[in-house]
Amino acid sequence: MQDLAQKRIVLGLTGGVACYKIAELVRRMTEQGATVDVVMTEAATQFITPVTMQALSGRPVFVSTWDARIANNMPHIDLSRGADAILVAPASTDFMAKLAHGMADDLLSTLCVARACPLLVVPAMNREMWANPATQRNAAQLVEDGIAILGPAAGDQACGEIGDGRMIEPHEILADLIAFFQPKPLAGKRVLLTAGPTVEPIDPVRVISNRSSGKTGYALARAAREAGAQVTLVSGPTSLPAPRGVDLYPVQTARQMHQAVMAQARQVDLFIAVAAVADWHVRNAAAQKMKKTEGGAGAPVLEFEPNPDILADVARLEGGPWCVGFAAETENLSEYAQAKRKRKNIPLLVGNLAHEVMDADDTRLVLFDEQGEHALPAAGKLDAARRLIAEIATRLPR
Ligand code: C5P
Repeated sequence: MQDLAQKRIVLGLTGGVACYKIAELVRRMTEQGATVDVVMTEAATQFITPVTMQALSGRPVFVSTWDARIANNMPHIDLSRGADAILVAPASTDFMAKLAHGMADDLLSTLCVARACPLLVVPAMNREMWANPATQRNAAQLVEDGIAILGPAAGDQACGEIGDGRMIEPHEILADLIAFFQPKPLAGKRVLLTAGPTVEPIDPVRVISNRSSGKTGYALARAAREAGAQVTLVSGPTSLPAPRGVDLYPVQTARQMHQAVMAQARQVDLFIAVAAVADWHVRNAAAQKMKKTEGGAGAPVLEFEPNPDILADVARLEGGPWCVGFAAETENLSEYAQAKRKRKNIPLLVGNLAHEVMDADDTRLVLFDEQGEHALPAAGKLDAARRLIAEIATRLPR
């Protein structure tokens, strides 16, 4: 599914070298189904041409307040009406100052003052310009006026300095814009999740693990964040980037995961255990690499010890969070899932069939609770995660 389908976005560019990254952003926005109307300040046209932005958006680009292509000759009104949001990226120091004071001396600033839709700005400037008290005052004023500020990030700057003020990357702007449009049923809630596999050492170079890409858990963390929650993700090793705005605690073993979860479980409203936790660890793991012997004689004999059940331990906490478990089964899903839910004493267990979900991008989830069983439609993992978060939100105690 396209995450910005039916959305019309006015994308404003102001003067800054980060303009070159906005070409990529327009591509990604249109890929997600958005209609993008680009408006540029004169300064922005020094950094990237209107021709490039027109080619990528497939629509006329506007720079001048006096542009006669708009029928009533009022582009500042015409362009903002019917827009779902105005996104200004990059937003310069000067443009933020203008917004904070309601100035309207070019098309983009006039459009912002005349808007009847949400406004999001993505600052991009040198670290001293960002740290300047006037800029900080203006940023605070924008927040007070209900304008969303995305970023800035810290790091290398085009001027050669290092610090705060860098524009966040196009994929991060896109993720924040998509999140902006999602419903917020978990606003004010704190959510803790586990995801990915755990790995249990046999010796310093060998491990026992479960097959898990982490995709479902990471998609749920992102969906919970989009839904307005403050999200912490305790994850075993995966190849996935941390979802934007989510606190990531990387761990290796089940015992580390248990420790990280128990340290935070009392402070959260909701715990979702998605990790494929190894059931055992190797009791007699070797401190040095085990050596092969000629002819394979003396193969190691591994002794196993059970790992703690993280979900069951959190579910046992008095005054602990509302708990959701996952179960991937290879057969008899309904029977095993309901039995597991009761055994772990949790209100909701989400089941899926292991062969359908492993390494796949799509998933089919079935909810098991006190009322019985309820299948969600098959969907991509992010759409399924959003749907599941919506279901959880309706069940979560007030
Ligand atoms: O017991 P089983 O592994 O089948 O249960 C699956 C659910 O329990 C998942 O939500 C999983 O994350 C959680 N779990 C856990 N700690 C374990 C084993 C499973 O949190 N040691």
